[in-house]
Amino acid sequence: MIDFAFQNPTKIYFGRDSLQNLSGEVRRYGNRVLLVYGGGSIKRIGLYDKVMEILRAENAHVWEISGVLPNPRLGLVKEGVKLCKENDVQLVLAVGGGSAIDTAKAIANGACYDGDPWDLFERKGENTSVLPLGTIVTLSAAGSEMSDSSVITRESDMCKRGRNTPFNYPKFSILNPEYTFTLPPFQTACGIVDIMAHMMERYFTRVENVELIDRMTEAALVTVINNAPVVMEKPDDYNARAEIMWAGALAHNNLLSTGRTGDWASHKLEHELSALYDIAHGAGLAIVFPAWMKYVLDKDGEKKLAQFARRVMHVEDDFGSDRETALEGIARLEGFYHSLGLTTTLHENSIGQEDITRMAERAIKLGGGSLGSFVKLGVSDAEAIYRLAL
Ligand code: NZQ
Ligand code: ZN
Repeated sequence: MIDFAFQNPTKIYFGRDSLQNLSGEVRRYGNRVLLVYGGGSIKRIGLYDKVMEILRAENAHVWEISGVLPNPRLGLVKEGVKLCKENDVQLVLAVGGGSAIDTAKAIANGACYDGDPWDLFERKGENTSVLPLGTIVTLSAAGSEMSDSSVITRESDMCKRGRNTPFNYPKFSILNPEYTFTLPPFQTACGIVDIMAHMMERYFTRVENVELIDRMTEAALVTVINNAPVVMEKPDDYNARAEIMWAGALAHNNLLSTGRTGDWASHKLEHELSALYDIAHGAGLAIVFPAWMKYVLDKDGEKKLAQFARRVMHVEDDFGSDRETALEGIARLEGFYHSLGLTTTLHENSIGQEDITRMAERAIKLGGGSLGSFVKLGVSDAEAIYRLAL
């Protein structure tokens, strides 16, 4: 285990009655509120009205940034920053999934920075403060409700970049599993894949003697796998939605990173896919992650992949070698993704090989010359992984 510092400051309100805590938080941070949400699902599920009712009761002044797209864009961030600066906004409140939350994070940071908010993503500038940010989650997936990360796409060149900073931790997040009952099966499935990917990125490490976090991660993965068919079959199963919602937050709040170095190559390779083809992040991960596993297997990856196969995918220990056991584990993972109605190849998503070199080069460039730490990847490795995913 390597040395670490761990602090996650986000306060979580979890459960059926969790929304009632919004009033106290508005009183704490201020009632000049910027509400950030997506294309209208929060209105269809009646959550917008409930939130507005609470804000009205607090005599709040409310400004709105709506229409956040999946794979959220910089343009709307800039609009939000302008609104915050012009109106002395005191609290940025995201209601929705990862895209609404990431937009709100970029706005809350950008409002405390004098230049172009994209500078912060390019590490050309730093803010020294941030507006308080709260979230009300309607989709278990990105884990942004408890993460230090925000991922935004610049429209001019469709460049998708993440920024990690302690300023991105929300002050509070409200998680009511009931708000996820209305998710379409595809979004539920993409969310499950993303949650598992956040666990797996941290699990595949070269750091030894990390048994506690390994076993916690395996338990979390198995919990998600067990509850996935329940929510796919019965979208309003509260207990199964609750298990997945809490797993989604814990997957990405950095607890499972403690004492180890994560990999994150699959995420960076996926971000190129969702930037260029505008596919859902989770759908992209279902394609990239198994291909990454197959590639790293023969780069001294068989021991950890076999452990994953045995403890998470329940592969019996009679496959003769770690390599065979690992391969069976990868096949079962792909089978699990298929059981969620997702595909695991680029071709099935009408994506050919034409952009592979471009995606590989940009991913490696954005990674500062390489990606990953379980196996360090260069451009030719990234290309090979995309080709394995064809
Ligand atoms: O826009 P609306 O109308 O709200 O509809 C959304 C959207 O179309 C819909 N939806 C959300 N809650 C719903 C619902 N539909 C019905 N009922 C509900 N209760 O779902 C669609 C997808 O929403 P989105 O927010 O885009 O999904 P997700 O939460 O998966 O977020 C994806 C974004 O997060 C980034 C991804 O790259 C992607 O841009 N990530 C952010 C991370 C972070 N900040 O820590 C980490 C992740 O690895 C990830 O990269
Ligand atoms: Zn992710």
